[in-house]
Amino acid sequence: ITTHRNVPLSNIHTFQLPCLGSEVREIDDESDCPKLPQDNYYVLGEGSNTVFTENFGRPIVVNKIKGITCEETTTDWKLTIGAGENWHDLVLHCLQRNIFGFENLALIPGTVGAAPVQNIGAYGREVSEFIYSVRAWDRHTSKFVEFNSQECLFGYRDSIFKRNPERWLITSVTFLISKVWRREVSYGELQSLNRDKVSAFDIFERVVAVRTHKLPDPKTSPNAGSFFKNPVIPTHYYQALLSKYADLPGYSLPNDLVKVPAGWLIDRLGWKNKKFGDILVHPQQALVIVNTKPGSGQDLLALAQAIVRSVANAFQIQLEVEVRLLGPSDLIEL
Ligand code: EPU
Repeated sequence: ITTHRNVPLSNIHTFQLPCLGSEVREIDDESDCPKLPQDNYYVLGEGSNTVFTENFGRPIVVNKIKGITCEETTTDWKLTIGAGENWHDLVLHCLQRNIFGFENLALIPGTVGAAPVQNIGAYGREVSEFIYSVRAWDRHTSKFVEFNSQECLFGYRDSIFKRNPERWLITSVTFLISKVWRREVSYGELQSLNRDKVSAFDIFERVVAVRTHKLPDPKTSPNAGSFFKNPVIPTHYYQALLSKYADLPGYSLPNDLVKVPAGWLIDRLGWKNKKFGDILVHPQQALVIVNTKPGSGQDLLALAQAIVRSVANAFQIQLEVEVRLLGPSDLIEL
């Protein structure tokens, strides 16, 4: 375990606000977990979904546990991946070995260990479709535990890990990937691909092209991906909105619910390119907020609150944050 004190957090979270962390520890093996001195630490991967809005007083544990193992049966591949491995590197690793399924999830920032927490998803696929089990260190009982896919309670950008942010430190994720490839080309920009001829590589290339075009690269334009979740509303309310806003997109869900794009709602209210201090609503994708640097947490919170209020007033829809917003020692709400 390596320990650093008074660490500039701009180096370890992709939104890069200029805050300090009192103590940062790095672990690179699951055997480090029992050695962590206390259980009140905050766990971080590559910091691509966490925003430190001010100096952070609690210890931070950066999970750098690596490792890739692959078992092959006649029907499936079973891959067990260290939580600190980079997600996109895993996507590439699989494609290079003709293991198909992750191609829609290309270029999602962050680590493998963070993938089940958020149940990362894009272009019609969610990572939960491939998760066989998740291994984690239980910080309450000081034991390693294994969750099967059902026990993870996956939902849209949701899981048991997301709901209990202080309980587990994920050490590895096991994926079960069928050798029978099922293409997923029903989402937006993938629909124009030729269904019958398309390969996993074609989907990968299209996803990379769309993401590179629409989403700012966190390395050059610090951001944390979608800032808000797409709200889910009753079908009757969606229909009522359609009579006023005929072009409002909607994706039908079970139980008479519809998911509407928060980006569309925010865009419609003219927020693209609006700036509070150094904090900017991305000009191509209104769901993404960018730090043009150095940036202040207060400006970010003020901008995000103003967006939430404006969407609530115009559409009577309450937006929820998708990123993890941190205050001086804990998650905060807007
Ligand atoms: N739209 C606008 N204006 C905008 C943004 C979007 O009109 O400024 C419209 C688009 O034209 C489209 C619809 O809204 O009709 C949906 O937009 P898009 O396809 O860009 O996806 P999204 O719903 O905004 C979600 C995920 C992304 C994921 C994409 C692609 C959430 C919160 N976000 O965004 O995930 O990459 O779909 O599948 O579910 C992330 O979670 O960090 C993330 C980037």
